[in-house]
Amino acid sequence: MTEKKALLLVGSPRGIEQSTSGRLGGRLLDALKERGFETDKLHVHAVVRSPTETERALAAVAWADLVVLSLPLYVDSFPAPVIALFERIAEQRVGAGRTRILLIIQCGFPESEQNATALAIAECFAAEVGWRWLGGLALGGVETYGGSAHEVLDLIGKALAEGRPAPDLAANKAMPAWLYRIGGNIMWRREAKKNGVARRLRAKPYAD
Ligand SMILES: Cc1cc2nc3c(=O)[nH]c(=O)nc-3n(C[C@H](O)[C@H](O)[C@H](O)COP(=O)(O)O)c2cc1C
Repeated sequence: MTEKKALLLVGSPRGIEQSTSGRLGGRLLDALKERGFETDKLHVHAVVRSPTETERALAAVAWADLVVLSLPLYVDSFPAPVIALFERIAEQRVGAGRTRILLIIQCGFPESEQNATALAIAECFAAEVGWRWLGGLALGGVETYGGSAHEVLDLIGKALAEGRPAPDLAANKAMPAWLYRIGGNIMWRREAKKNGVARRLRAKPYAD
């Protein structure tokens, strides 16, 4: 019988309550809880700072049969503290042959494809450590499109609780390139004005 113990690992320095990662992961955890899962959550950046907390985190990973790692994309990869914790898990082969892992990854750019390398990294990790890879929800520009992701997370929670494969995880509303350029230009002009350099946007200080 499938166990029902889910651990959410939040891999954003902004923490569990303030980050997009924490909010998305929390939503999935709530959906699992409503369907009889025991749940726990940890902020990765907080636990890796202390050896005692790291040991506690490794014990929590060993307790769980489902690990949901929710994190932001950093330079096409994971934030460093997430890598540090997952290296410890791999060294000790915590949960090998038993744990399932689902990734929720989201990035600042609007295209979800930006997350492809990080998804591949997580899948390799799962294969090497002997975890079952359940796939990943990869989202682009979530800070702009928060609402639609929540519906997908509820569906994933329902499928996992019923022992079914997760539904199509590629939930993303693509923003047309022209719209992104207009929005980006407005944002950079506003920032330049705020910092008193509105007239120097085309400056090339290192060109000469
Ligand atoms: C150091 C750093 C690196 C980042 N690298 C990328 C990147 O490679 N691609 C991208 O699309 N967004 C990148 N972002 C944007 C974040 O992924 C995005 O803002 C995310 O929504 C933050 O989620 P959080 O609130 O859970 O921390 C980066 C942000 C930071 C601070």
